[in-house]
Amino acid sequence: MLEFKDISLHYGASQILYDISMTAEVGKVCCLMGTNGVGKTSLLKVLSGTHPQSGGSYKLNGEEVAGSKAHILAAKGIGYVPQGRDVFPLMTIQENLETGFACLPKDEHEVPDHIFELFPVLKQMINRRGGDLSGGQQQQLAIARALITKPKLLLLDEPTEGIQPNIITQIGEVISHLRDEGNMAIILVEQYFDFAYDLADKFYAMRRGKIVLDGSKDEVEKEKLREAVSV
Ligand SMILES: Nc1ncnc2c1ncn2[C@@H]1O[C@H](COP(=O)(O)OP(=O)(O)OP(=O)(O)O)[C@@H](O)[C@H]1O
Ligand SMILES: [Mg+2]
Repeated sequence: MLEFKDISLHYGASQILYDISMTAEVGKVCCLMGTNGVGKTSLLKVLSGTHPQSGGSYKLNGEEVAGSKAHILAAKGIGYVPQGRDVFPLMTIQENLETGFACLPKDEHEVPDHIFELFPVLKQMINRRGGDLSGGQQQQLAIARALITKPKLLLLDEPTEGIQPNIITQIGEVISHLRDEGNMAIILVEQYFDFAYDLADKFYAMRRGKIVLDGSKDEVEKEKLREAVSV
């Protein structure tokens, strides 16, 4: 459903991404791996429309969307959970969730019950401010906020970064539940190798702005993948 080809990206004069091609399918987790600074977040910025690509094609269900702004892509079904979470610290959990309504028609401006089934802690703390939550709770809020937009493609940028192990386990369970529901494609950017390996159906390993290894779980040897994403 999502297909992009030969994506490049520059920040000013410096080129960061070179000819990146990828496909992501509904009901599958596609994992993008690589060490710090290889360009993982930059690629998600292109896919979410928060930074323009400098070349290449980006297709959603066959429609070319390259160059579309973030709010247009959000309305087309791209849900983005940015690295560092970007929870609004002075807004309550309820208000943070409601920011997801911006790309939905008015009659859908309601937080669905299944969001609280996935993340019960958010219901318990609904009137607390985003900034009062732990890192793990903020990560859950950021994922919930993206789910409010009813994404067809969910982009997750290092959801385990700086988070305690029991919440990492819960986040892993949510990701596999969302995959198994079969309503969305998931692109997971992750450096926590075992977490990523267990969840992913397909892998892309990046080095210095290029894909150096890719394939499905059957095709890619685990140790080769580990080597490709090591410093
Ligand atoms: N706004 C920007 N302007 C200029 N250079 C940038 C900008 N954002 C990122 N970079 C550079 O682009 C490169 C790729 O950064 P990016 O954040 O995409 O990497 P990453 O793989 O997500 O790293 P990490 O694992 O640390 O999050 C890095 O060298 C970074 O310094
Ligand atoms: Mg990053």
